Formats: sequence, structure tokens, C-alpha cells
Amino acid sequence: CKGKGHVSVILLGATGDLAKKYLWQGLFQLYLNEVSRGHTFSFHGAALTPPEKAEAIMFNSLKSLSCPADVEADRCALVKDQFLKLTRYRQLKTAENYTALQQDILTSLAEEDLHEAGRLFYLSVPPFAYADIARNINASCRPPPGAWLRVVLEKPFGHDYGSAMQLASDMQTFFREEEIYRVDHYLGKQAVAQILPFRRRNQKNLDSIWNRQHVDRVEIVMKETVDAKGRASFYEEYGVIRDVIQNHLTEILTSVAMEVPNNLTSSSDVLRAKLELLDSLHPLEGSRAIIGQYQNYVQQVREELEKPPHFFTKTQTFASVLIYIDNMRWEGVPFLLVSGKDLDERTSYVRVVFKDNAFCLQKDLARDPVKNPCKPRQIVFHIGHGELGFPAVLVSRNLFKPSLVPSQWQEVSELPNVFLFGQPLSDYHVYHPIQEREAYSILISNIYRGKKESFITTKNLLASWKFWTPLLEELESTSPRVYPGGSESGHLLDFVIEHSGLRFLTDEHLQIMGMEQK
Ligand code: BG6
Repeated sequence: CKGKGHVSVILLGATGDLAKKYLWQGLFQLYLNEVSRGHTFSFHGAALTPPEKAEAIMFNSLKSLSCPADVEADRCALVKDQFLKLTRYRQLKTAENYTALQQDILTSLAEEDLHEAGRLFYLSVPPFAYADIARNINASCRPPPGAWLRVVLEKPFGHDYGSAMQLASDMQTFFREEEIYRVDHYLGKQAVAQILPFRRRNQKNLDSIWNRQHVDRVEIVMKETVDAKGRASFYEEYGVIRDVIQNHLTEILTSVAMEVPNNLTSSSDVLRAKLELLDSLHPLEGSRAIIGQYQNYVQQVREELEKPPHFFTKTQTFASVLIYIDNMRWEGVPFLLVSGKDLDERTSYVRVVFKDNAFCLQKDLARDPVKNPCKPRQIVFHIGHGELGFPAVLVSRNLFKPSLVPSQWQEVSELPNVFLFGQPLSDYHVYHPIQEREAYSILISNIYRGKKESFITTKNLLASWKFWTPLLEELESTSPRVYPGGSESGHLLDFVIEHSGLRFLTDEHLQIMGMEQK
């Protein structure tokens, strides 16, 4: 046997947008990192389309593959050339196509005397196609005993608890739980992936303050400037809560609020702690949600889906939901999850705001507390975009100086002249990743390493849907308030945050938010 083991990667949906934008680049990055360690690979781009049509599209996407800045141009060109030689297109439509794939893999392994370490099937296809593909993989393309099989799935993982359960049980017919990798690409974002390691590394400083006595509120925000144009049929079915809040923002919430297990490298410990947290979320009521729809939305849907002029829809394009957690640590602390399309800016972050005066330095208090008010104390995981423009972890200087993994994160010494949450950056210790990496590259590497803690297990998925489904059902009959969209929606979030403690909103509040009753 040569090398450390061979891995065949099969990317279904190889000509699609996600593959073009992120997945091929992530696979190339994996190859670049692993090939020098003696691992060997083959890559199979697959789709339903015959090769005459699909090959040109797929190989066109591969032309733009790039290496990180620290890789020399010559090496990059060489590795890219090897990668292209190892990549082929195949049509995967019929059961025979899958059998042929299996034969090809086994034959080329035998010819080159390679030992098979594992097989990775990445399903970048719509969920209705999952069951059929799963049946074929299970029937014809399992690797021989001793080699692993990993099947990667992209969201949406259902529409509500019932449909998620159905989809999950379809998958369980063909695969074992440890073979299923459900992607939530926010878990690959560097600032999100840093939340648990940060909490563990700074445990001494955080132990006494990461709780209801000291945390005033937690804001988990994902604002987008794009609208639903071009995706009307998807958006009509899902809306903002299903699209990003049930998954991305809920995953972030669990990382912030769960108990940190002793061993962060134990997938089962991390996933169990997440599940415990999901199970302790206080049941949601409609009054905890503010929902909106940008003004142009209905018109866009009418045009894209060729609906009649009187067509009307209650789909939410903005939602802010106030969540409470029923445990000793977080009882009474509001976790505000907010997301929307067609807002005034693109930004995403988690902001843990500490209570006033809870951490005033004694010397500040000893002086005149009115003249020397304690500055706000907060910890921010800045996920991307926004005023900062880069992923970052920020800790108010009057809290503590944090520690982050020095090989991955560094303190920013020359701070841009930017204000974040009303404070100059000089009020914070600001850290950013030494090397910025795409979420998908990180996740593909984690799949390869079998790091299951970065993915969504069936139990965790169902726990999340169990929490969200009653609210989604309740909101079906509620008309969203209309907001103008674009730059005119700037004050919307400020209002929601300022009134996060409000349970009932009057029409006056909603008018201030620019949301009018339909
Ligand atoms: C996707 C949603 O999961 O995340 C999109 O379906 C959203 O509606 C996107 O725009 C945002 O991701 P990112 O990485 O651009 O913040």
C-alpha cells in the first residue's frame, strides 16, 4: 500500500452556484493542505446532466481556483494542475451510473495499489433529491469495510418539525448517524467557530460573569442588504426565520449559551452540551416576535412567480425574536435574534452586553460615578462585513485582556478609525484571524478530519425545529408589518434592541420602527 490512504470525493451538484462559489475552492484548499502529508485523492464532479453539457461549466469554475497568499505562485500552479488532472465529471442519474462509479473507484485503487481511507459524498442538491441519491449511494457506492463514508447535506433540512423528521428518517434508512454531516455554513465562520474556544481559554475571567447576574442581554444579529429577488419561490416557502434564524442564529445562540465541555475536541461532549441547551429554551410565544416584510416584496413575488395583481403574501423578510433560557445560568436574560433582508447595512455579529456598573473598576466608582461613568462592557464576535469589514473578537478594555490561540488570532495594533456600538475601537482589545479563511474551506477540512462537532446531528436538528415550529405556525396567520427597505430601515434594529424587553408593541412603537400596519 502506498501513502496514508486514498480519499475519493464526489461532489453532486458540481455545476451549481454553491459549487462554483465555494465548494470547489474548499476542496482545492483541502487538497493543497493534505497532499503534502502523503494523502492521495480523486475528485468526481457529478450532476444529472450529460457530460457534453456539464463538463464545460464545471471546468470553467475550476479555472478560478486560488491559493492563500503564503503559497508561492509556482507551487500553487503545480498543485492546481495536479488537482485538475485528478478531477473528472460524471453523470449520476441512474442506478447504473452509481454502479459504474463504484467500479471505477475500485479499479483505479487496485491499479495504483492504493489503500482506501474513505469516501466523501457532498450533496449540493435540493433536499427532494436526497432520498434517491442516498438509496443509490447505499446500494452501490459504499466503500469497503474499514474505510469511512461521509455524506454531506446542505440546508434546508425541512420546513418544520414534521418535515425535518421525515427527511431525517429517510437519511437514517440508508446511513448511520456518524456518516451524516449536515452543514450550517455559519459554524465555519471564523468568529463563530471561535466562540467556544474563546470561552474555554478565558474561563478564569469569564466564569464569574457569563451569567444572569452580569449579562444584560445578548444580541445575535444578521442584517442583509440583499433582498429576495431571484429567489422568490424559495423565499415564499421559507421566509427569514426558516432561512437563517432557525439554523444560523440558533447555532450561534447555542455556542454562546451552552455549558462548555471540558474537552472541546470530543464531538460527542460538545454536541450533547448543545442539545441540553436547545432543550432548555423557553417555549416561544408570538408576542416575543416582531415580523416585517419589505415594501417591494409582494411586487417582486408577483413578477417572479407570475402571480395576479391581487396576490398577497404574509412571508416574513424581517424577524426579531426574543428568547429566554430556562436554566440557572441564563434565567431572565434576553437573547435577541434579529435578521432581515433589504436592510440598511450588511453585518453579522454576536454582542454580549454586560450590566451597567457590574464591572466598574473600583477606582472609577470611588471617584464621582456621575462624572466618571463606567464605560459599557461588552464582548463582540464580529462575524463579518459591517463597519469593521473583517471577522474579529472584541473585548471591552475595562473587562479583561483576552487570550486567543496565538497561531490563529492576533491583536490588531493599528486600529481603523471606526466606532462600534458607539465606542471607538480603542476602547476594545481587538483580535482578528491571522489568515482569513472561507467558511466552506474550514468546514470541508473538518469533514475530512471527522470533526462532527461542527455539524448538525439529527437530535440537535429536531430539537431546534421543535423549538421553532410552534412560533412559525402561530405566525402563519399574522400579517407582517411593512418596512420601507434599504437605507430607510436603519432605525429598525436600534428600536428592536432598545425595546428588547418589550413584550407587546403598540402601533406607536411600530410607527417609530417604520413598520406600518397593513
Ligand atoms: C444562507 C441563506 O444560508 O445564508 C441566505 O439562505 C443568506 O438567504 C446567506 O443570504 C447569508 O450567508 P453569508 O455567508 O453571505 O452571510
